[in-house]
Amino acid sequence: MSKQLLRVQYEELSGIDSHELQQYADKVGLYSRQVQKTFSADYNSPMSFSYTPADDETRRVIHEAADRIKQINPSLLIVIGIGGSSLGTQAVLQALGIDQSKIYFADTVDPDLLYAISNRMKGLLAANQTVILNVISKSGTTLETIANFEVLVSILKQHYPVDYYRYVVVTTDQDSPLWQYGKSIQAECLTVPKQVGGRYSVFTAVGLFPLAVVGVDIDALCAGAHAMVDACMSEKGMQNPAAISAALLYLHYQHGRSIHDTFVFSPALHALGNWYRQLLAESVGKEHDQQGKVVHVGITPTVSVGTTDLHSVGQLYLAGPDNRFTTFIIPQEWHYQQAVPQELVTAILPNIAGVSYRELMQAIAQGTMRAYTEKQRPFMRIDMPVMNELYLGQYLIYAMMQVMYVGLLCNIDPFNQPEVELYKRETRKILSRG
Ligand code: PA5
Repeated sequence: MSKQLLRVQYEELSGIDSHELQQYADKVGLYSRQVQKTFSADYNSPMSFSYTPADDETRRVIHEAADRIKQINPSLLIVIGIGGSSLGTQAVLQALGIDQSKIYFADTVDPDLLYAISNRMKGLLAANQTVILNVISKSGTTLETIANFEVLVSILKQHYPVDYYRYVVVTTDQDSPLWQYGKSIQAECLTVPKQVGGRYSVFTAVGLFPLAVVGVDIDALCAGAHAMVDACMSEKGMQNPAAISAALLYLHYQHGRSIHDTFVFSPALHALGNWYRQLLAESVGKEHDQQGKVVHVGITPTVSVGTTDLHSVGQLYLAGPDNRFTTFIIPQEWHYQQAVPQELVTAILPNIAGVSYRELMQAIAQGTMRAYTEKQRPFMRIDMPVMNELYLGQYLIYAMMQVMYVGLLCNIDPFNQPEVELYKRETRKILSRG
């Protein structure tokens, strides 16, 4: 297996001094010592998420559970979860170009979405096909997830009044209300380490179980991540990709660039951008610093998709306020090959005759970065050699390490999300009024 690691390349610093960059990358190098101390199967700190790709024992349990389900040969797997309990799985599947007719995501309480999923499920069950429900909630109490599960499990129960539990897999914290329910019906229950937060949990059963069931090589995903985590725990800041990029994000934020745009040059990476969006927003958007002082820190993550969005937001990015730092993610290979025919029909653009789509995409990505440099709009770039498990695993852990480091540089807690509770509290009040 290739040991090549994704590299963070930065050319256009736009006002950031390279000594300053070194200073902050080295500061992150000091934080990485703390991470090293928590890198163990004890999961004794929220930082221990870094260990999840290295946790072979947990992966063995996940493989066994996935194999049991695969033996039933399900026609459909429905993942019921929201936020960190769903976005990572969606990101990997989309990037790998996996056929998504066999996996659905019930990730909000949209009546039309649930109607469509329920209908498909009823149709398959009526045709004697198997449907598996994987309900995922770390807390085990999230309203959207529990409501969707109630709807879908009741359909399952109508079809299999006695042994419906055989088609349910519960993923949650040990002893959560959902765990207790799962145990009470004798369903398969997979745990999430208590200290590993939802948006940092893609390498636990949360992401790995559904991915394994639909045939993703989760060993390669974790191997990629494991190789990258070593680099991201390096105390030598300027050799640590997560440290360099965290320092860049932080310094640009200090210079008034409070938006971080992840600009992916493939629609297949859109969901990966959405996964990162939650990670950065929830981890760094905080009212209080570590000492309790009101600070209102936050970097707003956005996702842009090349080349489509160049004809949508490109004008703003190059001409509007200089309030954005960009990470370009550029695949070097795509899943399929395509080329413009040698014999052109219209001949409107003669120089595209016979050119591959890969070359077109690369040329436009290159042209975009040149335009950013010309306009002094700062960016870094990550070239992804192939959109496969190995490199996706690398990117996922790199991004989680980077965001944690940005949070630490900002002196906030990157692992909590106290304000998300506010909407939950208010919603509970509304619903309890009946
Ligand atoms: O990162 C987080 O902790 C959150 O975004 C959660 O993933 C999200 O709120 C879903 O929570 P739960 O998995 O408890 O249902």
